[in-house]
Amino acid sequence: MGLIMNKDLTDLLIETYGQTINDIISKKNGLKIDTFTHSLKLSACMVEFVDYLRKMPLSELNKKIKHKDKDLFINYIKNLSFAQYDKLIVMCWWHDIGKIKISKKILAKPGKLTEDEYKEMSKHSVHSANLLRELGFSDDIIASVFFHHPKNFSEKKIYVFLPAISLLEITDIYTALREPRVYREKDLTLEESIKILQSELEKGLGNPFYKIFVEFITEKENEHYDIFKKFEKTTLKDIAEKSMHYIDKSKQISAAPVVKNED
Ligand SMILES: [Fe+2]
Ligand SMILES: [Fe+2]
Repeated sequence: MGLIMNKDLTDLLIETYGQTINDIISKKNGLKIDTFTHSLKLSACMVEFVDYLRKMPLSELNKKIKHKDKDLFINYIKNLSFAQYDKLIVMCWWHDIGKIKISKKILAKPGKLTEDEYKEMSKHSVHSANLLRELGFSDDIIASVFFHHPKNFSEKKIYVFLPAISLLEITDIYTALREPRVYREKDLTLEESIKILQSELEKGLGNPFYKIFVEFITEKENEHYDIFKKFEKTTLKDIAEKSMHYIDKSKQISAAPVVKNED
């Protein structure tokens, strides 16, 4: 019985994620991007960065984390349980799932978004959280995904309740900056990416890990180490299997979330 129920859930997860794998191909330069690849790259960047943080001596963390409640972030890093670590990966794999509700015209637009289009695009984190709620994901995963673009909200106090959000924010912005995108003429260099990352973070209240993150990406770049590679062979089935540990089937709202967009 349990097995059959698990199989149903796996199918549901695979089906839900499968729909975002539709490639978004820009007519302009034939560039291919998809939420799936972005999410796998993000999960690799996240794990590499968290491992980097965990290896850092306490005194260094203390010097380099910038936040008035910095002990909270230090404790989070130093006492990260296996489940919390694992959940960070699951969050990365699902954080942008809500993009399936955003029109492809906006997602694949080769230029700058208008104000209205930007507003529409900004809703994807809310759509993601709703889908995860329907699938029965645990509340901390849902909340972290909901707030993964904290600059869209009036303040970043939420960091203090869910430090994972600060990690998700910084690794997500950077991953997107180092990917080919339809609205960019050419790939950004490390230096260009750091500049944009900083200005993006300043639209909110900054990010406690900014200084360490820049140190981390600079070090890896100098070593020619690809921080986006670790999970590149991950399949939908792997995602479904890991995710199942963080889903409460009794909390599932619908057996088949409606994930189609209008176009
Ligand atoms: Fe996002
Ligand atoms: Fe993202």
